[in-house]
Amino acid sequence: MIEIDPLMGLRMINDGSVSLLSTRREGKTNVSTVSWQMPLSQDPPMLGISLTPSCLSNELLRESGEFVLSIPDASLIAETHYCGTHRGDSEDKVRSMQFRTMRARKVIPLLVTNCIGHLECAVRDVYPFGDRLFYASRVVAALVEEDYFDNGWNENAQTLHHLGGDRYKTGGGILDAKKWPLPQQMPNLPPLF
Ligand SMILES: Cc1cc2nc3c(=O)[nH]c(=O)nc-3n(C[C@H](O)[C@H](O)[C@H](O)COP(=O)(O)O)c2cc1C
Repeated sequence: MIEIDPLMGLRMINDGSVSLLSTRREGKTNVSTVSWQMPLSQDPPMLGISLTPSCLSNELLRESGEFVLSIPDASLIAETHYCGTHRGDSEDKVRSMQFRTMRARKVIPLLVTNCIGHLECAVRDVYPFGDRLFYASRVVAALVEEDYFDNGWNENAQTLHHLGGDRYKTGGGILDAKKWPLPQQMPNLPPLF
């Protein structure tokens, strides 16, 4: 695992992949699943996550103001779905999922090292939107597994995308826009009016 620039790290969520949200209180780490996350700013590097107020992750986040987003690949589909469908106040999901963890560089919550990338975040502002709370947060450190990332996810990174309910999508090739130029000549279109 290597540390990369937080701005480059934001590319980990460019593809809208599902992530695991790690929060911590008094030595206990909780992991839940989020798919409503987005890059917000380049300078400083920031991202936002949208959370249900009633979940344990929200409670821990309100207290500590810190979290880690770890990006699972398709091999973790069962664990990812489980963490998104079970509450952390009645069980220790790190233990029941047999997650491996490691200390983060700059925040208290742990990294789930089964994942292929990690964004360490500190909350800047919280905004209520409808039934959610939106956490606008600074990315303070980013780490990635080298084999999966070349200035963005490469073909090895089979990230997970949530379609809704129990269904996910992964795979699909990578297209390099430089290899797909516009046609040299646009067809002669008839005038609109
Ligand atoms: C694929 C997937 C994506 C999810 N995305 C979000 C999300 O973006 N925000 C949210 O509040 N809950 C989301 N959830 C639901 C939470 O993960 C779920 O409520 C979880 O049980 C909360 O756990 P906790 O109580 O331990 O925090 C998602 C669930 C799944 C399965």
